Amino acid sequence: MRKLKNILVTGGAGFIGCNFIHYLFGLSNSGTDLFEDAGFDGRVINVDCLTYAGNLESLKDVEEKFGVSSCGENARYFFEKVDICDRAQIERIFKQYDIDTVIHFAAESHVDRSILGPEAFMKTNVMGTFTLLDVARNYWGISLDNQRDDVLFHHISTDEVYGSLGETGYFLETTSYDPRSPYSSSKASSDHIVMAYYHTYGLPITLSNCTNNYGPFQFPEKLLPLMISNIKDGKNLPVYGKGDNIRDWIYVEDHNRGVWQIVKNSPAGEKWNLGGENEWQNIRLLNEVIDLASKELGKDAEEVRKTITYVKDRPGHDKRYAIDCTKAKTRLGWERKMTFEQGLLATIRWYLSHGEWIANIQSGAYKDWISKNYTEQGR
Ligand code: NAD
Ligand code: DAU
Repeated sequence: MRKLKNILVTGGAGFIGCNFIHYLFGLSNSGTDLFEDAGFDGRVINVDCLTYAGNLESLKDVEEKFGVSSCGENARYFFEKVDICDRAQIERIFKQYDIDTVIHFAAESHVDRSILGPEAFMKTNVMGTFTLLDVARNYWGISLDNQRDDVLFHHISTDEVYGSLGETGYFLETTSYDPRSPYSSSKASSDHIVMAYYHTYGLPITLSNCTNNYGPFQFPEKLLPLMISNIKDGKNLPVYGKGDNIRDWIYVEDHNRGVWQIVKNSPAGEKWNLGGENEWQNIRLLNEVIDLASKELGKDAEEVRKTITYVKDRPGHDKRYAIDCTKAKTRLGWERKMTFEQGLLATIRWYLSHGEWIANIQSGAYKDWISKNYTEQGR
């Protein structure tokens, strides 16, 4: 039986990680009542070194309700500003909080940045994952002769490890890896290392590969938040190449509920595909966003459409991603709750009503917010 009492969440100050922490503590950001309580009563230790993508402002409600600053000894949420490559600090954290579960989101996650500067991707995504796995194995005292079923290491990965599809076909859990960018190759490497720790040492691991997430708190360098804020600000809308690349979009809380179901119920050593079954060509999706956002803002959609600007394509731009998630649906009973129609509108409304959150990122003030509001806990 898994303990699920002291959960180390890495990268909890990023987009998916902060939504996951909200979900665990029953704080949905979907603006709907679709997402039931996770039924979690343990502690979350959020380990994040706060790269440009880490923003503690996204977790201020969690800190206020469950953190040390407000709850003292009864705190259930802890933040540790630590790099996952720092072995000594990771060892300290395992010991200090008696970690029994790792849910590993931390990564360098943006493909364009990986093309400009791949080194950080290799360090964090490959060496950082290795460091966490190795510390977990040692702290939990695991070997092939000493197996445990009360602890778990869950690794969050991406559909991009499978490569690029043509017009037809889907990625299955058994599809061979064929990553094509520095980002996806670093994630593929980390997936292989996770599996190696299962086969070689018997470390209880699970792994999930998900499609493009959308929802609140995403850094505005990614397609949807970038386009929504540019529409609001009347800026150009840069479309790479012909805009005919295809992505499969899933609402972030549906992804996170799938992760939690895996962590609770999956046998060790299993790999799961999670996806939206919701494919959109980039240009079609952008036109949909223009229609919805213009209506919300009282702008003329046809005028906004004139700001679409076709720019130089991303080198090695993967054509199409699409996931077959039959395994998770049939064997875990996982199902998505958010329709794309609902989710896209809710997301657009969230960004339009959180102008300050975006402005703080654009101006860099979110880093000041962190130093002003965050004091390191007991170290
Ligand atoms: P993100 O870039 O928004 O957040 C990453 C977080 O990790 C940030 O808070 C950052 O500060 C932290 N981090 C980076 N390097 C670190 C290090 N060395 N030590 C400690 N913390 C570090 O990323 P995201 O979009 O939330 O993605 C989370 C995970 O999900 C990643 O593993 C990514 O590969 C995977 N994923 C993302 C998507 C998507 O659509 N965004 C889809 C599938 C899988
Ligand atoms: O598929 C899962 C992956 O989805 C995750 O593993 C990555 O961490 C996440 O960043 C995302 O990768 P993408 O490259 O698909 O996401 P991005 O938002 O950068 O781009 C989505 C599509 O839109 C892609 O085809 C490139 C295109 N694009 C992107 C931007 C930022 C544009 O046309 N213009 C843009 O300005």
